Amino acid sequence: MSPAGRLPKTVLPRRYDLTIGPDLDASTFTGRVSIEIEVREPTATIALHAKDLDIGHAAVRQGAAAIGATAALDADHDLVVLTLDRLLEAGAATVELHFAGAISHGLLGFYRSTFVDGESRLQVIAATQFEAPHARRAFPCFDEPEFKAVFAITLEVADGLLAISNSPEIARTVNGGIARVSFADTIPMSTYLVAWVVGPLELTDAVDAGGVAVRVAHVPGRGHLTRFALDLGAFAITYFTGYYGIPYPGAKCDLVALPDFSFGAMENLGCVTFRETRLLLDPDRVSLDEMASAALTIVHEIAHMWFGDLVTMKWWNGIWLNEAFATFMEHLGLDAYRPEWKTWDDFALGRAAALDVDALATTRTVEYEVVTPADAEGMFDLLTYQKGGSVLRMLERWLGADAFRGGVRLYLDRYRFANTETTDLWDALEEATREPVRRIMDTWIFQPGLPAVRVDGDRLRIEQRRFTYEDGDREGLWVLPLLARVHNGGRAETRSLLLSEKEMTIDAPADALVVLNAGGEGFYRVAYPREQRDRLLDAGVLEPLERFALVDDLWASVLAGEISAEEFLGCAHRFTDETDLVVWKVLIAHLRAAARLVTGDALERMHAEIAAIVGPARERLGWDARPADDPRTRQLRGLMIDALGSTVGDRSTIARAREVDAAGTRDPDVEAAAVAVVASAGTRDDFDRFLARSAAASSPQAQLRYLYALGEFPSEEMVLQACELAISDEVRAQNGPFLLQRALRNREHGAAAWAFVRDHWDTVRTRFSPGLLPRVIEGTTWLVEDAVAGDVLTFVDAHPVAAGARTIAQHMERLRVHRAAVGRERGRLSAALLGGAST
Ligand code: BES
Ligand code: ZN
Repeated sequence: MSPAGRLPKTVLPRRYDLTIGPDLDASTFTGRVSIEIEVREPTATIALHAKDLDIGHAAVRQGAAAIGATAALDADHDLVVLTLDRLLEAGAATVELHFAGAISHGLLGFYRSTFVDGESRLQVIAATQFEAPHARRAFPCFDEPEFKAVFAITLEVADGLLAISNSPEIARTVNGGIARVSFADTIPMSTYLVAWVVGPLELTDAVDAGGVAVRVAHVPGRGHLTRFALDLGAFAITYFTGYYGIPYPGAKCDLVALPDFSFGAMENLGCVTFRETRLLLDPDRVSLDEMASAALTIVHEIAHMWFGDLVTMKWWNGIWLNEAFATFMEHLGLDAYRPEWKTWDDFALGRAAALDVDALATTRTVEYEVVTPADAEGMFDLLTYQKGGSVLRMLERWLGADAFRGGVRLYLDRYRFANTETTDLWDALEEATREPVRRIMDTWIFQPGLPAVRVDGDRLRIEQRRFTYEDGDREGLWVLPLLARVHNGGRAETRSLLLSEKEMTIDAPADALVVLNAGGEGFYRVAYPREQRDRLLDAGVLEPLERFALVDDLWASVLAGEISAEEFLGCAHRFTDETDLVVWKVLIAHLRAAARLVTGDALERMHAEIAAIVGPARERLGWDARPADDPRTRQLRGLMIDALGSTVGDRSTIARAREVDAAGTRDPDVEAAAVAVVASAGTRDDFDRFLARSAAASSPQAQLRYLYALGEFPSEEMVLQACELAISDEVRAQNGPFLLQRALRNREHGAAAWAFVRDHWDTVRTRFSPGLLPRVIEGTTWLVEDAVAGDVLTFVDAHPVAAGARTIAQHMERLRVHRAAVGRERGRLSAALLGGAST
């Protein structure tokens, strides 16, 4: 057997007949599986995946013959190996296994989730999470994406519990209080997409999406929060049926909200599981950010029903394309549903985060070799989702939306029910567009890092070079789909170029204004000479995403030591009249970071600078929503309140936020901002009140809003109490890591939170699922003072984790980059700030 437990292709599963009988009270289950296999070559052994399962009876049949089989576990490789009494001939055969296992308390495999009902009784749900790859923890199977098979699932559960799975229920018998619920055969699909959920849940009536029934399953009492998901779910199914030109591959679509869930959501065919915050919401009571994050999650998972579920990667090295594509599609779909939310604008924040990681020496190529299951778990990161999604968006913009869709349709149609390699998509796109897609994409997928396009003076010579924060490898050449807009005497013309050499000259009059990365959706940075940048800003020709990119590129060049923080601050002052939400988002994020470069009096001055930049826009927007406000204007109001209140500490903003928080408001964006502002200046009473409100909240979003705010209080004692809570049973293990992250980011008390995390590391490590540990460490990247930074770096180095080691290494490198920026900037930025107004 190969070291990673890869299975040979001598035996292929065709159909699983699987029966699972969970005992929710005892947290155990028993199971029986009968697998129809196709034997490709005569063999005397059959290997399947199984992990933490007790295997009982094992039997193999071929035709009328029963063949004796002995099962042996190979725990190191997650395998059960059947040794047969005699050779199995090529052709059809059946493997039958009985097994038993424990319903896990972690958040993967077949696991337990709990909630307290209206009568204060603890209720238990059992659900599955099989990516990636954990089906082997629930039943013996060929647990690799390429072994697609049909699944016929039966659940034996206490009568009265809801039992759902990938397909519709087709039969139900009740005997002695046990219901035997059988589900229809699925399409041929991979094991990681198999799912079932059992528990005292409620199910809404179905909404029809062109013949597909969409329902939401939820804990009792939350039915009033399902309307949004039902409507959007149905929309997404209809939208993607049209986009892909292929019918929905499942027989129904259940969206299941689980109280305990490791990730955001999971695309099990026909039985999609979610964290509650990503599915259940009241559109009138949540902020646009909260609503959009749920909406994107719903659309993302539904996009996977075709891309991922119907057509699936051969092996986990292809996971990036699966996730990158769904990330691209979540925005395309949501943009069709609510164009006024301008979701592609917000995607710029994800792209910016990916551009940021990709400038680190610890970055990786997007497509990456995956040998073991643990390697697969490490792939779910910014480079997979955001870089992958960004390069697809860049390609789509450059090829044109219709041409791109043509290639996607060709690909999906060609590989329905089958498995693919990344290059199969490029080939289909090339076929549909006659453009060199593979040559372009290979340079983004198989090469780490990103290019910066530098403009040489006013001769329009441009040059590409790898962009890094620290002196490192500058090698690299990308085939760069470049959009450039030339403004010449009142006329503007967009050009679609391909920069495949190191340098090129753009043919334009010397006095023309040239916008590189026109539209702002490329995955590269642009470095303009200062006076060209000023000309572009003065001329007012930049679109919002181009202004976003300019601000983001500028801050990146501060981190790279190419320009000073003072220059960045000077440029930020040019944005006081800005009206666009996403530009403000990036500007405020970087101003916050800039404020971490200084301390003491200089920090006071820095706050005054930020107040001067954001104050006028805050004034213009006021506190009360106006009838004419679009959703983004309402969110902008919340953002500005938060910036002036939490970041700057402006007294009158804090006072007003207190009033809003006490009196309540019908404006969720202002309400969410007020929570953050009050926390940033909060008292013991506020802390206790927020904690109580979080516990009593009737909506999942309000619960988290108050919970996470606990990490932002301005007192060490309270921040430490928040940390205690995060690792206690009062906070679900799915949320604890994020609360710790907030506490670590606390400007004044992050160091104390760090000491807490360090001293409780064993609890942290064992309580949270391994995939969430990087989220905790992510909070430390601005702990830049010598003593604590040294401690963080040494401790993290001495305590390696099972999954996400690279992501953690990236956080540590980012901490070093921030420290280097402090080293360069603290003196000179402080001098500039204290010496008077900045430029
Ligand atoms: N397939 C993933 C879920 C997943 C993530 C499984 C990591 C195993 C490991 C799902 O499609 C997904 O991408 N979920 C995201 C949400 C999405 C909106 C980006 C998640 O869970 O964060
Ligand atoms: Zn996904």
